[in-house]
Amino acid sequence: MNDCIKISVIGRDGNKQDIEIPTDMGLNLMEGLKINELPVEGTCGGMAMCASCHVFVHSKDLISLERNEDEQAMLDDTEGVEDNSRLTCQIPISPELDGAIIELAPLSDSEDGQDDW
Ligand code: FES
Repeated sequence: MNDCIKISVIGRDGNKQDIEIPTDMGLNLMEGLKINELPVEGTCGGMAMCASCHVFVHSKDLISLERNEDEQAMLDDTEGVEDNSRLTCQIPISPELDGAIIELAPLSDSEDGQDDW
């Protein structure tokens, strides 16, 4: 597919998987993970209000570590945040993200009930 980017996703079990996300549908990265059936809940629908789409960015050259105000406020209240933490719902899909590597953050207690991956 031409209008797709490839992202490598390290799951919560340490396994890596390459996924494709279309760049022409106005998606954010959280939605891109969901359409690839990865275990990201996106409970708040992408409003930076749940942190269920939290990942660690392993390719800072492709995905900025700069967080917007709402995202920072949510991450301030989230467990296990690292310097490379981002909320994927706040990352619009663009061709520049092609080849990026991210890692799903561990589930917090409030997200129990979802299988580890
Ligand atoms: S989907 Fe809720 S913070 Fe990203």
